Order: sequence, then C-alpha cells, then structure tokens
Amino acid sequence: MKKVVLAYSGGLDTSVAIRWLKTKGYEVIAFMADIGQEKTTDAAIRRARTAGASKVVVRDLKKKFIAEYLWPALKADAVYEGRYTLATALSRPLIAAEQVAVAHEEKAAAVAHGCTGKGNDQVRFEVTVQALDGRLEILAPVREWEFKSREEEVLYAQRHGIPIDVSKKNPFSIDKNIWGVSVEAGILENPNAEPPEEAFQWTRGAGKRNVKERLIEVEFLKGIPIGLNGRRKEALSLIEELNQIGALYGIGRTDMMENRLVGIKSRETYEAPAATLLLQAHKDLESLVLDRELLHYKESVSQKVAEIIYYGLWFTPLRKALDAFVNATQGKVTGRVRLKLRKYSAQVVGRNSPYSLYRESLATYGAKDAFDQRLAKGFIDLWALPYKSNR
Ligand code: ARG
Repeated sequence: MKKVVLAYSGGLDTSVAIRWLKTKGYEVIAFMADIGQEKTTDAAIRRARTAGASKVVVRDLKKKFIAEYLWPALKADAVYEGRYTLATALSRPLIAAEQVAVAHEEKAAAVAHGCTGKGNDQVRFEVTVQALDGRLEILAPVREWEFKSREEEVLYAQRHGIPIDVSKKNPFSIDKNIWGVSVEAGILENPNAEPPEEAFQWTRGAGKRNVKERLIEVEFLKGIPIGLNGRRKEALSLIEELNQIGALYGIGRTDMMENRLVGIKSRETYEAPAATLLLQAHKDLESLVLDRELLHYKESVSQKVAEIIYYGLWFTPLRKALDAFVNATQGKVTGRVRLKLRKYSAQVVGRNSPYSLYRESLATYGAKDAFDQRLAKGFIDLWALPYKSNR
C-alpha cells in the first residue's frame, strides 16, 4: 500500500480525509504540528486512529516556529497589506517542511493536506513540498472529494464511526497559533456586518473590560525580543505573556478586506496581540538606530517579504536573499522600547539604545544647539538647483 503523510488538525475535514484516503488505497500517517493552536491533542489522536490512521506523529514545533519563522518575520517587519501579521501564512511552510521530513522518515510516497481550493494555504503547502522534494505526490482530498457540505461530511463521519462533536459546530473558520488567530466565514462573509463579539477568540469582551492604562517595556537584542519589563524572557513565554496582556486590552484586533493569491477578495478578522506589540516596538527601535536611507529602503523590503510569506514562497532564493539583507540591518537594533497600553491600542512612549543615532545637541531648539544653521542655506540652494526657475 502507498503511504501518505497527512497534515492533520483534528477537525472534521482532515478526520474525514483520513478515511477517504484509505478508501482510495492509501495507508495514512497523521501528522500533527503543535504550534500553540490550543487544540486538545489526546482527543485528536484518538479520532485519527478511529478514522483509520496507521500512525499518528505529533511534534512540538513552537520553538522552531519562533526561531526560524516568527523572528525573521519580525526582523523584516513583515505585515501583509499593512495589517495582517501573517500568523497562518508563516505556519504553513513550517508544517509542510516537517511533513516532508516525516514522509522521508516513514518512506512515504505522498503527502496530503486538508485545504480547500479557494484559499492561500493550499498554495503555501504545495509550493513548500515541491520546493523541498519535487518527487512527492501531493493529495488534496478536500479539493477533490464528492462532499458538497459540512452536513454530508458529518454523515460520512458518523457512518464510519469517526467521533465528531457535532454540537461544537463553530460558525467561523478559525486558524490559531502563538502568533495570532485568523477568523473567517459565517456572518463575516458580509463585509458590511460588524464582527460579532463571538468571532473573537482571544480578545473577546475587551470592549466591556475596565482596563487601566499600563506601561510595558520590551527589550531587543539585534532585532530579537529578549526581555519584558526589565526581566530576561525566553522567547515562547515572552510571546505568551504579551498575548495575555495584549488580549486583555483588545490589542491587535484587525478587521480587513484582503486580497488572496487566488484572486478572491475576502473579509478576515485577526487577533494578534503579541505580534502587534512586538512589531510596533521593533519598528520604533529601528527608527532610532537606522539611518534614514536604510530605514526607507527597508520599508520596501518589508512589503516584499510580507508578499513572499503570504504567497507561499518561503523556500525560495529571493526570500533567502532578502533575509540576508534584513539580518544585515539588525546588528544595532538593540535597546528598550516602552509602550503604553490602552483599550484596543498601544503607543510607544519611550525608546533607548546604545546605538541611538539621535543627537540632542543637533536636534535641540535650546541653548545647547551644536548645529551650524548657516550650512543649511548652501545645502538648500544645491538641492533646489535642478528645479530652479528663471535661471
Ligand atoms: N487569510 C489568511 C491567510 O491566507 C488566513 C487564512 C486562515 N484560515 C482559516 N481557516 N481561517 O493567511
């Protein structure tokens, strides 16, 4: 029997996919990546077995996710269309790459995913697999099978004794990891309807909560966050703590119209408290330590990196080359940034760095001014020369 490694989430689609792949003649190995999606793994493992998986492989990829995907994206200030901090998009190449590794270990000839044919995730999975091992066969059951509705899938699951909690039907499609929550479908498909409070998973109720203004301080070393409020923090607990604090304030909520790679416009809501706070702080620190030209040039790179991530092109030469550029900009992104948290937003209120390019003696309007204002005239005359009329 041909072996296939399926990226398994524990949900209805991928549970049904296990059985469906078996009927197509495959031995199915279910692969679960733990990237902090808060799913109960034990129940999911049992479900995979009952559905017919010959083996369930679970891997904790949280540390790898942070070190190899989230920090590079943070250093790049990668944000898609100005607002989406890319939690889902960043997780796909990681999951797919690990899936390829499992396929090699298990001597499987194929990999499978549970993405639909309408989204970005199918692209991200498949481009990654093709880049890493072009010989692997790729199967996309949800894109091919005969079920036309959730109800048909539930019936199929029931007929095959796959335990599905039908009562738990969520009206939204939710994808979650430590970098954020992505929510779509249901009432959100009407772009003019305000997202109901139930659409929010981490920040629910923030609007009603009575929160006091609060200061936090993030410390960076070469572009990477290493401390919070004066204490050294290991990466995962730093992100988790910022998610907790930020969620209380409703920070990092986004409601946006988004352009998918497949050409569809969609309405998405996101919650990304830690990502939002870290990106805000990181960018602010860069504006203190990077010179003007480098900073401006880097902005265009940020946008390109965000597109690359969104478009599923993580494992490409361009991404690697831009990553090298980004790393070359981060040597002095060291220092501390203070943010004031208020309901739904945070503001940077202070920043300092041993590499600060700010010179008070140059900037001041006070008595200690060291800037020779007479030099300005010659500079402006030359600056204006190409445009001067009536010469
Ligand atoms: N639109 C986002 C993206 O393409 C999120 C997709 C998340 N999937 C979901 N089931 N909500 O990255």
